[in-house]
Amino acid sequence: MRPYDVAIIGAGFVGSALAGHLSRYYDVVTFDVVPAPPLLKDVDVEHRTCDITRFDEVRDKLGKPRVVIHTAIIQIPAIDEVKERAYEVNVLGTQNLCRLVKETPETSALILTGTWHVFGEREYGGVIDVSFGYRPDKVEDRAKLYVVSKMIQEGLMRFYDDIASEKTYNIMRLGTVLGEHMPEKAAANIFITNGLKGKPITPYLHSMYRPMLYIAIDDVCKAFHSRIKEIMDEGTGTETSERHIFNLFHPKPITILELAEIVKEAIILHTTGKVNPEIKVVDKGLPILFSVGDKRAMHTDIGDIKGFFKIEALKSPKEAIFEIVNGRCAAHR
Ligand SMILES: NC(=O)c1ccc[n+]([C@@H]2O[C@H](COP(=O)([O-])OP(=O)(O)OC[C@H]3O[C@@H](n4cnc5c(N)ncnc54)[C@H](O)[C@@H]3O)[C@@H](O)[C@H]2O)c1
Repeated sequence: MRPYDVAIIGAGFVGSALAGHLSRYYDVVTFDVVPAPPLLKDVDVEHRTCDITRFDEVRDKLGKPRVVIHTAIIQIPAIDEVKERAYEVNVLGTQNLCRLVKETPETSALILTGTWHVFGEREYGGVIDVSFGYRPDKVEDRAKLYVVSKMIQEGLMRFYDDIASEKTYNIMRLGTVLGEHMPEKAAANIFITNGLKGKPITPYLHSMYRPMLYIAIDDVCKAFHSRIKEIMDEGTGTETSERHIFNLFHPKPITILELAEIVKEAIILHTTGKVNPEIKVVDKGLPILFSVGDKRAMHTDIGDIKGFFKIEALKSPKEAIFEIVNGRCAAHR
């Protein structure tokens, strides 16, 4: 099989966006259990159908990439419905990729799309930097298995980073990603979709003060591009962040209620006032886990973004939301 530059495993929201961006600079091949992922339809890359839970199949199909990006996942809410399958994909699939990268001489790096969720979602103390640690018991029940998966994935990556010292295993902990094709059930997507239809924007009472960390999808693409360039130029990339772990999110958290307010403001602006959705807080009768002061207690440290990724400044959630709303309005003009 011919050598090539970048293998992207998982062609969902993040994987497809990375494929679109990186294919402008590199020879990219995507892999997914889905034979024709819908978000790849306008992306000109070779796609191979592949199930990462089957070691022999991945070994035979992966070939000889220089860098592998791992975005395949079973996530919330499906993870609670298919727990055994989720274990196979999220844990055993990651183990398979770690092992294959180690055993493939042409491949020098595996990059995992990690998440800020591993920090937990409440009772923050101190500074959230790359060594803040793992708190899967500080998340809502519905997110627990996802966070446990992401924590195990990081553990595997960190183990292999030590075992295979001639390779590099990188963890990019993304904030919740904002982009046109974000998951249907993401709060930002629901707010924008409903708001643009003139329906109320509905944060929940129990979570409206939850501080969230976000990243725009184009900043994810730029950061991965920069990291891959460094790995390609240097072999394994020069030493940058602690243990090859990067916190990749806009450093200032916003609450769900603020997200709702930003969406409302963006909709008013980009529809020139024709649509002005109401914000209606919905009481689901669930225990209130967050208070108005939680955001102020959340201090983050994303390190030297300019040094790591050559990005001057990350887009704020507000800028990202305004762009998405503008794009959707423009599509209907
Ligand atoms: N979307 C976000 O806001 C966000 C935030 C932080 C981190 N992340 C991380 O980014 C990564 C990608 O997230 P996403 O939002 O693009 O998810 P997604 O669900 O859109 O994409 C995941 C893809 O993995 C594929 N997949 C599932 N099982 C597979 C298997 N056995 N073999 C091969 N492919 C398989 C799915 O078919 C899907 O296309 C995940 O690791 C996630 O934890 C996402």
